[in-house]
Amino acid sequence: MTRTTTRTVHLRAAGVSFVVELCDPLPRILHWGEDLGELTGDDLTALSLTAGAAVLNNAIDAPRQFTVWPTEADGWSGTPAHQGHRSGTATTPRVRLTGTDERPGELTVSLRDEGSGLDLALTYRLDASGILSVRTRITRPAAAEDGPRPGPHEAAPYDLTGSTTMLPLPGRAQEILDFTGKWCRERSPQRGRLGHGSHVREVRRGRTGQDAPHLLTVGVPGFGFRKGEVWALHVAWSGNQRWLAERLPEGAGAHSGVLGGGELLAPGEIRLAPGDTYTSPECLFAWSDQGLDGLADRFHDMLRSRPQHPRAVRPLTLNTWEAVYFDHHQDRLLDLADLAAASGVERLVLDDGWFLGRRDDTAGLGDWTVDRTVWPEGLGPLADRVHSHGMQFGLWVEPEMVNLDSRMAREHPEWILGPSAGLGPSARHQYVVNLAHEEAFAYLLESLDALVTEYAIDYLKWDHNRDLHEAVHRAAYGADRPGVHAQTNALYRLIDVLKSRHPALEIESCSSGGGRVDLGILARTDRVWASDCNDPVERQSIQRWTAQLLPPELIGSHVGAPRSHTTGRITDASFRQITALFGHAGIEDDLTARTPDELAALTHWAALYKELRPLLHSGRVVRADLDDETTLLHGVVARDAGSALYCWARLETSAAGQSGRVCLPGLDPGRPYRVRIRSEAGLPLLHQGSGPAWYTAALDGWVPLPGTVLTRAGLPMPTLAPNQALLMEIAVAESLPTAQRDATA
Ligand code: GLA
Repeated sequence: MTRTTTRTVHLRAAGVSFVVELCDPLPRILHWGEDLGELTGDDLTALSLTAGAAVLNNAIDAPRQFTVWPTEADGWSGTPAHQGHRSGTATTPRVRLTGTDERPGELTVSLRDEGSGLDLALTYRLDASGILSVRTRITRPAAAEDGPRPGPHEAAPYDLTGSTTMLPLPGRAQEILDFTGKWCRERSPQRGRLGHGSHVREVRRGRTGQDAPHLLTVGVPGFGFRKGEVWALHVAWSGNQRWLAERLPEGAGAHSGVLGGGELLAPGEIRLAPGDTYTSPECLFAWSDQGLDGLADRFHDMLRSRPQHPRAVRPLTLNTWEAVYFDHHQDRLLDLADLAAASGVERLVLDDGWFLGRRDDTAGLGDWTVDRTVWPEGLGPLADRVHSHGMQFGLWVEPEMVNLDSRMAREHPEWILGPSAGLGPSARHQYVVNLAHEEAFAYLLESLDALVTEYAIDYLKWDHNRDLHEAVHRAAYGADRPGVHAQTNALYRLIDVLKSRHPALEIESCSSGGGRVDLGILARTDRVWASDCNDPVERQSIQRWTAQLLPPELIGSHVGAPRSHTTGRITDASFRQITALFGHAGIEDDLTARTPDELAALTHWAALYKELRPLLHSGRVVRADLDDETTLLHGVVARDAGSALYCWARLETSAAGQSGRVCLPGLDPGRPYRVRIRSEAGLPLLHQGSGPAWYTAALDGWVPLPGTVLTRAGLPMPTLAPNQALLMEIAVAESLPTAQRDATA
């Protein structure tokens, strides 16, 4: 195959380079990773010269290339960039470059496959945080009115069965990290070696899922939070997905493997008739030579720079679920609202149980009007009381779901997503509403709109409590069609229209806890409920890994009851409170059952959260690599490294007595710092006698400690008893308020 190069495009941002050679017949990717600096014409020629691979034994008789759209036409035997057919024909795409469009930080390459008659457009955008987003549009052009009559094959729709966006990986990327999990144990990390073959994660739940890959990361062996070169992918989509890391013995052009992703399509789900376009979910690729914290930093930067990123202070929230469950009584909830306000709460969210027939989880979903047998005066008195305290009012909804025991299911069984052969098993006694059904969509939109308007609702907790199975649109004669793609887009449209009608409305993405945490839903929502588990032992890990993608202000984190409702574990208030501080904090507890002392402690903690949230919600998330996995050191460091807050937590006892010197990540070694222990949320129980000396001193106030000691020599840390946490504040000496500076002099 001869190649003609027209030009080479080099996108650069935040220490990342992406280089594409625009050659005929198909552009090839020369580099994605570390910044290559300004490249002269000669440099680009050299890069191009090194992009061709050797011709191998018993292999195709041309140097292999890694193109922007790998298929068998290039001799590629890995996962093809796209697959499909037109009534069993046109199965071997031969894609050629037809045009390019360049804008600052962005390159679109247009391709055409004559065999199938498809036009493709790949848009690569490298944003200021160094994240490369890729979106693909596949179009079947409309037939020209005066053109020749199409033959039978040409007239058939093109069945797109897969579209995967791929970027190259070098040979040193040999270790994979991704995530799994279940209800109340979301984002559990799993690591392994990337050998030859495909590491594929398929999400077939019709939602992102509690076991979502979250961020598929491949790195040099032994990469950690603070070290190692890493390459990562996130598929920003809330429906079915496909993620892969793949290495073949023959490599990928001059590269060694690929990282790729896209939507997982059901057979026949996307049938392109003339004039139709398929748009893939956005795939976000990130590279860092500073380990997992480097990747997290890029995602946090990108999210924080979005125009829709929540910028108002994240209000301290009280959610009523674990306080009252379905036991709704107006007086009880009014008392709860009063106590919440007195404790410093700024937003009260009325959870499940308020709507028609919803006395437990077997009935009511779909009937989005207030149940007057439980709320005889409607929600007005509660909403008014909440607002009169200056708090925001939030409400739980689960619009995509329906119980068969509901008016909606009785009157509109045709709105339920499921096969004409009959519905399969329910999950949590519920089924899924077909949002792509225009009448169902309109009903839900108007119901939600009416509620938000009537009660001046500030916030919706938007739940989604089951996987989608047999999610097909019912049709006569059993002609059911797959529906997850349409459902996902309809959900996005529903939220978008509702938000356009109520621009100040905030929405939380909840899905049985943390089952819908992805950047597709987060493009239109304002935070996620990370997990139904409020047990701080579990939460330390769930929040640590949710923060791999999301900054703390987008992660709901609540203080629960002393005995966790979901694990039965009993923990101290201080551990629960310090853990909940590192997110968008709240309370999920029956305050009417708390003693005056407990309420006073909670009120102190609420004030601490308000004091610290400007730092917590703008700084860099840092996590230390420690030998002992049962000990965690994580924190948030101001962007100028002038202040920081760290949590030192222990989940189990250790065999070692001393914790040893531990380096605090993220600070500037060249600056003079001071350290103090914040005790407003209580002090931890120690698994030792006393000390170390700096700790004893820092309990009484600021202790001067230079950056070199904190970051290079390390601080000898106290050994905590299990299920305890310590909160440490750091400030650069000159940034201390005068009174505090004098006190430490
Ligand atoms: C889901 C959510 C919970 C709660 C319940 C209510 O499980 O994750 O937080 O809202 O539904 O039914």
